[in-house]
Amino acid sequence: MNLFLLYYSGAGNTQLVVSYLARELRRMGHRVTTRFARKGAELPDRFEYDGLIVASPVYAYQPPQTLMETVERLPELRSAPVFTLMTKGLISGNAPLTLSRAISEKGGIVVGHAEIIMADTLFILTSKRNSLLEKIMLLPNMMAVREIRKLPQRVLRSFEEKVPVPFRPKIYAKLTDFIARKFHKFVEQKVGQFYADERCDLCGACVGLCPESNIRIVDSRVLWGMDCEFCMRCVHRCPQEAIQIGRYIREAGRYVPPKDAYLRALLK
Ligand SMILES: Cc1cc2nc3c(=O)[nH]c(=O)nc-3n(C[C@H](O)[C@H](O)[C@H](O)COP(=O)(O)O)c2cc1C
Ligand code: SF4
Ligand code: SF4
Repeated sequence: MNLFLLYYSGAGNTQLVVSYLARELRRMGHRVTTRFARKGAELPDRFEYDGLIVASPVYAYQPPQTLMETVERLPELRSAPVFTLMTKGLISGNAPLTLSRAISEKGGIVVGHAEIIMADTLFILTSKRNSLLEKIMLLPNMMAVREIRKLPQRVLRSFEEKVPVPFRPKIYAKLTDFIARKFHKFVEQKVGQFYADERCDLCGACVGLCPESNIRIVDSRVLWGMDCEFCMRCVHRCPQEAIQIGRYIREAGRYVPPKDAYLRALLK
């Protein structure tokens, strides 16, 4: 098969799953074109693939806004079979429904869906570096590895069988929508509080890492704009661990999925 794999990822959980999936599908003889749905990502003019995979984290019970905008920019999918894949901390809320609706509007048919619980890239920042709580927060990755290994076969089976997946609004959606609104208010305050501490060596990595192009270096200072998805990519991936949000995450360790003791097994 000739597949197009569109994904978004902050700290890197979804990216690691996508790398594994693409590598295994290629090993089985399939062609896979992967594209990170960062702001302004280039997309094909025409959809000339046998299937589409859309992979997304769950942020505040929804897919990231930039992924949704990228899906809207896709060419007409001409009834192509689509597999949606979500990584989440625990509760996906209406994220699968939102994504499937956007795909249907582009003319795609969602024939497979998987949700994988992994370390929560936001909550892990509430634990202290090397603490017992941090270790507990990494435990979901142990279970995730088994699920991730099943994905290539699951995707191929869905594309063969082509049975549409019925998505319905979750009964608890009112509650998660309420929490999400509160969370967005919290985020609005926090996006103005990013800064690089004294460990920053102005390497510039964060500028390229940010999927929203929200970071600049001006006059030897790292500056954050307000166009932030709160994906935590810059925070977790800064080589100096220098990025702070106010005083909240100073004590927290940073989480890099390819270095995680459980997930590392997938890269072999
Ligand atoms: C801003 C933010 C909000 C999140 N909200 C949710 C959520 O509503 N439900 C959930 O299950 N996980 C939530 N998570 C956890 C992520 O979905 C999970 O860790 C995911 O695997 C991250 O993937 P990524 O590293 O590819 O971004 C959130 C994480 C972040 C950073
Ligand atoms: S990645 Fe970290 S060390 Fe490099 S410029 Fe950004 S904040 Fe500074
Ligand atoms: S500034 Fe950091 S947290 Fe915000 S979108 Fe960019 S990488 Fe993600």
